[in-house]
Order: sequence, then C-alpha cells, then structure tokens
Amino acid sequence: MGLLPPKQRAPPAVLLQSALFFISFVCRHSFCLEVEKNQSAWLLVNASRASGHPISDRLFGIFFEEINHAGAGGLWAELVNNRGFEAGGPNTPSYISPWSTIGNESYVMASTDRSSCFDLNKVALRLDVLCDDKGDNACPADGVGIYNPGFWGMNIEKGKTYKVVFHVRSSDSVNLSISLTGSSGSPVLASASVIASASDVLNWTKMEVRLEATATNHNSRLQITTNQQEVIWFDQVSAMPEDTYLGHGFRSDLMQMLAQIKPKFLRFPGGDYVKGEWLQNAFHWKDTVGPWEERPGHYNDVWNYWTDDALGFFEFLQLAEELGALPVWVFHSGFSIREEIETPNIHPFVREALDGLEFARGDSDSTWGSVRANMGHPKPFDLRYIAIGNQDCGRKNYRGNYLEFYNAIKQAYPDTQVISNCDGSSQKLDHPSDLYDVHVYTSANNMFSMAHQFDQMPRTGPKVFVSEYAVTDGGKGNLLAALAQAAFLIGLEKNSDIVDMASNAPLFVNANDRSFSNDAIVFDSSQIYGTPGYWVQSFFAESSGATILSTSLQTNSTSSLIASAISWQDSDNQNTYLRIKVVNYGSNSVNLKISLRGFDSNSIKLSGLSKSILTSAHPTDENTFQEPQKVFPKKSPLRSISKDVDVLLSPYSFTSLDFLEKPSILGIPRIEESSADM
Ligand code: AHR
Repeated sequence: MGLLPPKQRAPPAVLLQSALFFISFVCRHSFCLEVEKNQSAWLLVNASRASGHPISDRLFGIFFEEINHAGAGGLWAELVNNRGFEAGGPNTPSYISPWSTIGNESYVMASTDRSSCFDLNKVALRLDVLCDDKGDNACPADGVGIYNPGFWGMNIEKGKTYKVVFHVRSSDSVNLSISLTGSSGSPVLASASVIASASDVLNWTKMEVRLEATATNHNSRLQITTNQQEVIWFDQVSAMPEDTYLGHGFRSDLMQMLAQIKPKFLRFPGGDYVKGEWLQNAFHWKDTVGPWEERPGHYNDVWNYWTDDALGFFEFLQLAEELGALPVWVFHSGFSIREEIETPNIHPFVREALDGLEFARGDSDSTWGSVRANMGHPKPFDLRYIAIGNQDCGRKNYRGNYLEFYNAIKQAYPDTQVISNCDGSSQKLDHPSDLYDVHVYTSANNMFSMAHQFDQMPRTGPKVFVSEYAVTDGGKGNLLAALAQAAFLIGLEKNSDIVDMASNAPLFVNANDRSFSNDAIVFDSSQIYGTPGYWVQSFFAESSGATILSTSLQTNSTSSLIASAISWQDSDNQNTYLRIKVVNYGSNSVNLKISLRGFDSNSIKLSGLSKSILTSAHPTDENTFQEPQKVFPKKSPLRSISKDVDVLLSPYSFTSLDFLEKPSILGIPRIEESSADM
C-alpha cells in the first residue's frame, strides 16, 4: 500500500514535514528495529479540515425490508398474527392458521365465510359453539373458543397493559372471556369479560378491552372463549401493547436499537418485497393506508409469509420522522420478479406513484393528502427521495418504464431525488437520475477488498447509493463479517464525495424466520441483540455530515489494515471531536503509530476521550441470545494524549479512538499534552 491512496490530493507541506519528523523520531528511538521485527504501521492524520472534504449529511442510514418477519411479528408491536383471518386467501372455507380452536370438535367448530363488514377483506371467522353452560352438553369448565399464539408466542409482561380490539356479530347475546394466557391456556395472565345483548351484536360491533398482566410470560397467547351455545362471527382481532415507541405502534426495544445508530435515512419497504414474486403480491401503498381494520393485507410471496399491512406506507413515513431520518420510498416500477408491464401500459403505475407522493407531501385538502391528514398527520412528510423499482435494471422494459416515472415525477415534484436501480459504477447510465443503486452481496474477504471499490471512479455524474450491502459468508453475523463491513464503510466514508448514501441489508431478523442470515439486529418475542455488524454501524453514527480528513497509512508488511479519520461536531454541545477508526483484518497484532498533524489553530490541544475495541477470541465468533455481548465494543478512557500515539491493534479487531479536538466555549477542561498512555 502506497503512502497516499491514489485518489487523495497531494499532502500539504505540513504532512511532508511531519513525515520527515516521524522518520527521524522512530530511528532515534529504536523504533526502526521494532518495525522490522513486528507488524507495524504508521497512520498520518492531517487534522486540518481544509485537507479533507465534507461527508454527505445523509451518508449512513437504514434499509427496512419486510423480510425475516422484520415488521409483522417484529418492529410493528401487534401481537395477533393474521388478525383479519385473510391469510388463507379470499376463497372460503380457508385455513385460519395460526388461529386454532379451544375445545374438541364435539364442542366447537371454526370456519371462515365472506361475511365481514369490511369490503376489502371479506373473510370472517364463524365459530359454531355446540356445547352450553349446563346440562348434558355442558362446555368444559374453562369454556371453548379460539386462540392466537401470535408470532411464535406473545410477550406479555407483568404490570403492562394490552389493548384488545375485535369485531363481533351474533344473533344471540354473547358472554365472552378475553384472556392472555400461557402457551397451553394457563396460567391466565390477564382476563376480562365482554357481555352484550343480542340487539347489541346483531350487526358487526367493535369491542375493546384493556388487559393488565399480572405475570410475565414470553410465550403467551390470546384466547376468546365462551360457554354459551350459539354461532358467533369474529373479525379483525388485534392485541397491542400500550407501551410502544412514542405510542405509535413500534416495538420500543427494537426502535431504541435503531435510534442508537442515528440513521440519516430510512429506505423502505424493500427490496424485492416491493415488487413481489408475482405482481399481484407487490406492495401497493394504497392498500396499506387508512383504518387498520380496512386494510386487505397481502401475501409476501418473496419471503413467504402473510402480512396484515399494519406497518403500511403511513407508518413507514412516521417511522422515518420519529428517527429523524429522511424517508426513501422504493416503489415498484411495473416489474415483479417474474413479470413485467410493457411501457405502453405503465401509466396506472405512474399514477399510483404520483398519488403516493401526494399522500406523503400534498396539502391536507388534496385528495390523498386528506387521507394522510385523517390518519393524524396534517403536516406533509418530507418525502424527496424516491427509488424507481428495485433490481429491475436490464429488464426489457426498464428504461422505458423508468423514463415514464422519471418525467412525470420530476414534472410534478421537481425537488425529488430520483434513484435509478441501474448500477452506474460499471457503465454510464442511459437515462437521467440523481443517484443510482449499488447492491453488494459478497464474501467477507471480497467485502474487505471492496473498501477501494470507489477510489478510481469518475467524480462526475449521478451519486452512488449503496442501498444494500451484506456479507454472505459471515454465518449469522460474525466478527469477520463485521470487520469486512467496517473496512467497506471506511472506504465509503473516504469516497463520500461520490457516495452519497449507504445502508446495510437486512436490518432485522426474527430468530424464528431466518430467510436471510447475517442481519444487523436479531430478536424474538422478548429478546434482542445486535450482531457485530450492528456494533460496527454504531461507530459510523457520527460520520454523516462530518469532515473526512486526509490520512495516509504506511505498513511494513500487512495489507490487512484500513483506517480513516473524521472531524465532527456534536450539535448538542457544539464540541468538535476527532474520531480515528482502524480495522485490522489480519491474524497478527499490529503496532500502529498515529501522528496527528495540521490542526487549524495552534491554540487547540487534544484531549483523549476514549478508545473502543470490537474484537473477540475467534473471527467466527457471533452473538447469541445466551451471549448477546460476546462481540461487543469495549470502551476505555484515554486520560491524556500527545500528537503521536502508539496503539497496539489486536488481531481481527476494529478500533475507534475519540478525541476532543475543540471544546465549545462552554469550556470542557483541557488536559495538557503529555506522552501517549495507550
Ligand atoms: O436483502 C434481501 C434481498 O436482496 C432484497 O430484497 C433484494 O433487493 C436483494 O436481492
């Protein structure tokens, strides 16, 4: 590796002087000998911001796809799975899984018909209760009925309240017990009765109860039982914890993990999920807005599960807003994985996209803006980034369809940033765009070497959006994969004059449905942990909007190192910080000498803040529910610091060094320069 990476500008005089100083320094201090014996390296950091370049203020974000039950049974806190009984399709009788009956067939029978009061999801559950409260045909003591185990068990916690809503109809009076119980029906964690006269439930009626749990059980179920002989219909049954993030329906623990990495944008709702294996299963945003009971839901045929679309277009926009992230909407551009719409027939799809933009951005008295306003958000959402399709480039009608979308959208919303999914890094695009998608799915070793992927790219033309990157041979998310990813991200930081945005894929995995392994955040009904790759992302949380500084790395033998330095300002306290990140992707430890030069003002003195290391005994180590912090950043303080710092980099490690470069006038005490103490 040369002293200066090819794309970097010539070093200012101060760097050269520093280099000479360093060489004389190390030889006077017998360091030359050490350099020959051990793996060693020298990182020269020019801390002058003038020598670097600003990083896009939206460089690092997240990509949410409805994969691995990331949303249904994940981020969306709904506990009931298949709440509208639609998962079995529109033809009845249909399967009602994962609903099941309580009581054998001589007591109770559950079937479906199309008698729902909701026009877009006509299927309802018909429950024939054959037993009665007394006599020869008495029901079992606990009653008979139906239960729903949620998504691999509901997490019910002592002292928390759950809102259960359902729709019911019967020609008789009803006396129902609504309870949250253990997975076999006991213990009872919370229970309430719903009693209504025949006239009250003759037509479909919405019922609501609040249940407060008296005990905790991570594998619970919702039961609706009775011991009255009659026929009862149920539809749209929901159980939501009252404790959700900002009360908006997102699971708090998962949201906290997202907030922690400070994503600057949210790309949603997929991926291939957007377009479907077949077009009939694509994500049609209009079917996902409005009252939850009226949404038809759809089969996610790419990742093979039903979704009630509770996490719909509105909720995604709200999610972005709550994270302080720019929404990036991917809509289907007339392609499923297996089909495509011919360009002359694309106009209804263009209309659908324009209507979606009006829903997000239109005045609250516009046709679609009013739907958004009625959902509780009169203020428009800041939707400016839109992606025309996902991985459709090269299809026969791609260019034709793309241009129809592009022209119509630019005309109606000139400030939109349009993202093409043709990778323009290998060849010039044959259509206009503001950004283009690059997807990187590769081995850890190749991901590491791709840190230099963008070094030689032309600096003109549309910007790069690495909207999906993932290591495919990293087990369920191991240390090696995370280090390769860290190196890749350092490469993106360094090339952030051309790379504008980047996000990892996939974001979430419910441990019960791993369609794609090596995800950032793993969870089940009650547990959660970050993979090493997630923790790597946390070290890049301050990079967006920072300044990438000029650095040069010289090593004696290893090419397994990559490093970057940024200067960033904390908007909370106005302090300026310097962060140096180094990946050691090799099996040897490395003596790294860091020389900090070129500060903008002589009056600035550095204070060491902290050193964080992400490593583990073996590069294949992973986190698990049993050991969620096996590979976890270990942070230690740096008491004082000089402008030459020696660091020992462990084998297979990621190291982040944080310095306070310029305290704000609030006056954080400065620590005088002294010799390095690391
Ligand atoms: O991230 C999983 C899938 O990989 C995405 O849906 C798709 O865009 C890519 O091929």
